[in-house]
Amino acid sequence: MAAVIMDGKATAAAVRAEVAQDVQALREKGIVPGLAVIIVGDDPASRIYVNNKRKACAQTGIYSEEFSLPADTSQDELLALVASLNGRSDINGILCQLPLPAPLQAKPVIAAISPMKDVDAFHSSNVGQIMLGDYSFLPCTPAGVMELLHRYHIPVEGRRCVVVGRSNIVGKPMAMLLLHENGTVTICHSRTKDLAAICREADILVAAVGKPKFITADMVKPGAVVIDVGMDRDEDGNLCGDVDTQAVAAVASAITPVPGGVGPMTRAILMRNTLTAAKMQFK
Ligand code: GUN
Repeated sequence: MAAVIMDGKATAAAVRAEVAQDVQALREKGIVPGLAVIIVGDDPASRIYVNNKRKACAQTGIYSEEFSLPADTSQDELLALVASLNGRSDINGILCQLPLPAPLQAKPVIAAISPMKDVDAFHSSNVGQIMLGDYSFLPCTPAGVMELLHRYHIPVEGRRCVVVGRSNIVGKPMAMLLLHENGTVTICHSRTKDLAAICREADILVAAVGKPKFITADMVKPGAVVIDVGMDRDEDGNLCGDVDTQAVAAVASAITPVPGGVGPMTRAILMRNTLTAAKMQFK
């Protein structure tokens, strides 16, 4: 039986509709949630991501302000911008698009964002809260994956979950969220031995490695759920994910496409986090 193709676009639209309703209710009380998005330099992929975030704000009634800075912006200028946004009451969320162009450092920027406005959940204080299972914000991509699993009624409890990739943005927090829902979680990475064999044990396999079509059909247990977090380019320059979707769909029970899978979910959760930030700040 062919795999169910999990529709991230439609699911994200449903999440956004819920957020939009809450935003409207806040607006009726005179509160307009606001998101500031900082982009430095002219990386084309980052430009697309930032444009999509602005669109998601418009769709949910969230005020958005973009700060597009030249690649030669200094670390101090960037930190000064963050400080000014921390002080603005009309800005509830602050997101600095990563990666930053060299030699700019992301770490001090993340540390400078007020944890109350850290809608990416990258600040060490929010990361710590996630470890404790006691959080205000969840990181957008892992939370988007969980939302997709929930809305497709895919249980996590007691199941073997394998996360391929250990980034701070996706792999590590993804493993933590699956653990919070009582999955038995393994994290694989570039130094993992027998990676294919471990992947084949997964009931839920999350690919977040950033390598085009890295997960092949022989690495997937028949009936597994396969979540593709990748946004890669194949040898012809076409957009693809970390999973060889066509081949894996013949083995898996459910799979997310690229595009139209995890990406829209990430942005929908960013909107939800901005709404949460606004509610927290106006309490
Ligand atoms: N670059 C790739 N993904 C993300 C993300 O979720 N947040 C930010 N700020 N930058 C990114």
